[in-house]
Amino acid sequence: MKRDVRILLLGEAQVGKTSLILSLVGEEFPAEVPPRAEEITIPADVTPEKVPTHIVDYSEAEQTAEELQEEIDKANVVCVVYDVSEEATIEKIRTKWIPLVNGGTERGPRVPIILVGNKSDLRAGSSMEAVLPIMSQFPEIETCVECSAKNLRNISELFYYAQKAVLHPTAPLYDPEAKQLRPACVQALTRIFRLSDQDLDQALSDEELNAFQKSCFGHPLAPQALEDVKTVVCKNVAGGVREDRLTLDGFLFLNTLFIQRGRHETTWTILRRFGYGDTLELTLDYLAPPLHVPPGCSTELNHFGYQFVQRVFEKHDQDHDGSLSPVELDSFFSVFPAAPWGSQLPLEVPTEAGRLPLHGYLCQWTLVTYLDVRRCLEHLGYLGYPTLCERDSQAHAITVTREKRLDQEKGQTQRNVLLCKVVGARGVGKSAFLQAFLGRRLGDRRESPEEPAVYAINTVQVNGQEKYLILCEVSADSLLAAAPDAACDVACLMFDGSDPGSFAFCASVYKRHYMDGQTPCLFVSSKADLPEGISPPGLSPAEFCRRHRLPAPAPFSCASPAKLSTAVFTRLAAMATFPHLAHGELHSTSFWLRVTLGVIGAAVTAVLSFSLYRALVKTR
Ligand code: GTP
Ligand code: MG
Repeated sequence: MKRDVRILLLGEAQVGKTSLILSLVGEEFPAEVPPRAEEITIPADVTPEKVPTHIVDYSEAEQTAEELQEEIDKANVVCVVYDVSEEATIEKIRTKWIPLVNGGTERGPRVPIILVGNKSDLRAGSSMEAVLPIMSQFPEIETCVECSAKNLRNISELFYYAQKAVLHPTAPLYDPEAKQLRPACVQALTRIFRLSDQDLDQALSDEELNAFQKSCFGHPLAPQALEDVKTVVCKNVAGGVREDRLTLDGFLFLNTLFIQRGRHETTWTILRRFGYGDTLELTLDYLAPPLHVPPGCSTELNHFGYQFVQRVFEKHDQDHDGSLSPVELDSFFSVFPAAPWGSQLPLEVPTEAGRLPLHGYLCQWTLVTYLDVRRCLEHLGYLGYPTLCERDSQAHAITVTREKRLDQEKGQTQRNVLLCKVVGARGVGKSAFLQAFLGRRLGDRRESPEEPAVYAINTVQVNGQEKYLILCEVSADSLLAAAPDAACDVACLMFDGSDPGSFAFCASVYKRHYMDGQTPCLFVSSKADLPEGISPPGLSPAEFCRRHRLPAPAPFSCASPAKLSTAVFTRLAAMATFPHLAHGELHSTSFWLRVTLGVIGAAVTAVLSFSLYRALVKTR
């Protein structure tokens, strides 16, 4: 977060505004001062917070009321300067300057203000007594500082505080009247605490605290500092430390303490590292990092992504039974603003008796990454990926595959996630086909009474390699619409084998969308457990496929476990992986032969490279 900071100095005439600016710049007290100093810009690298800073003077003698208002509107922070030796200039803070700066309340967020008591060389005591009531009256006053342009006391501090008031404002974090953190701040810190509590025991162990410290500040805490932190918390909050671990109460107390001691940049660093912006909401930069996905490419989680989401799974699988119960799933959802996965989840991925096994969980991540990578990035953001993995953004967890056109040219794909559209007339058994892919027979109790799911995802082995296959049910009507999206890696054209009349629809979809394209197609004849129906006059499905040099229709049934055939899914995945082998003129037998040869080829290559490796090692 880098931006310019614009500091405006206001106050009664002769309080020393111009002198303060010139003292800062010249590092000595100017004997003579003009009414108004020129605007000065301090380059980023010489300021403590490394942001370009502009300092703007005001002179009643030289500027009109309109010009003053314009400057106030442009300022990020206003220093109201008074003269510690002139009580009247203090009174004017309340009656004139603050109303002028933040008077119109409808102006939205208030400009932070710093009270600056100049000429401290002229007064023995402090002006605090007069200033404190003003500070408690106006919450937008960040802090006050006494200084002297004459003997250069607190000059650079004053500008540092002003800069800090802009970059790390107190107001969103802390309510000075109630002397406690604001609710939004508590909420954000609670989420951060949950993300950092890796074993979910509601407390941060030394190890977890160190990991947290490292991801926020780049280095772990020294052992003594760790003990000191716990001692301070222990002394001040009952239950702040439990069994030598920092609890949420303790963590919140620590942050309150930082702020009360004027170290709110510490809390801001934590919040920003976990993606929060000035309004304590996760920023768009954080939730939606740039990721370029050219047309024709797909998105998959890579090794880092799977590793991360699996770690999250293991954290929430509190009973270590390899699956998430509804309660465990809720705990997983707790760091999201709303449940990330809806009621369709049990219909889309393999589940086990109402629980979500790791396999189904990974399937769900794969599905979201493929269908809606922006949402996936957002979810990874809520889970703290960039912070916990110490990466610039969660885009690090995503692989963008090469263009499909290149896959088609090479006749092979590197994709691990393949999309199959399941097309067919109403009632042919598309939804049952999707559920069968998840291992569910016809008549198995639906885990959710909702609408049938559009997607089902599971893994299949192709050439000894695990691939994710997404089945997408396409309603009969949508493919007849004006501009349907028929694109996919393989098309499954389904008709009801007991009602061959339903074939005509499939055939017309094939002719309209796939006949001239490169997408491999497989006709599936469903309800194979029922007696075959009588074909209407014209081409039979088998003849149609022969004519179009397509594999013969594959029979399928999900009526009983014995009849549940999973071979068709493997076949679809293989066709999607090797489109040129599956396409057109090849008969299914030769297709399988080529696939088998492919496996042998891969094995030979592996053996060869292993031998080469051994030869290399031996010659060393
Ligand atoms: P206007 O431009 O009229 O609004 O005044 P200003 O706020 O810019 O004040 P300026 O810097 O011109 O200073 C006013 C007088 O106070 C000058 O005579 C300064 O020398 C003197 N002065 C400024 N700062 C200090 C200080 O820290 N200590 C003392 N003793 N005198 C100061
Ligand atoms: Mg002046």
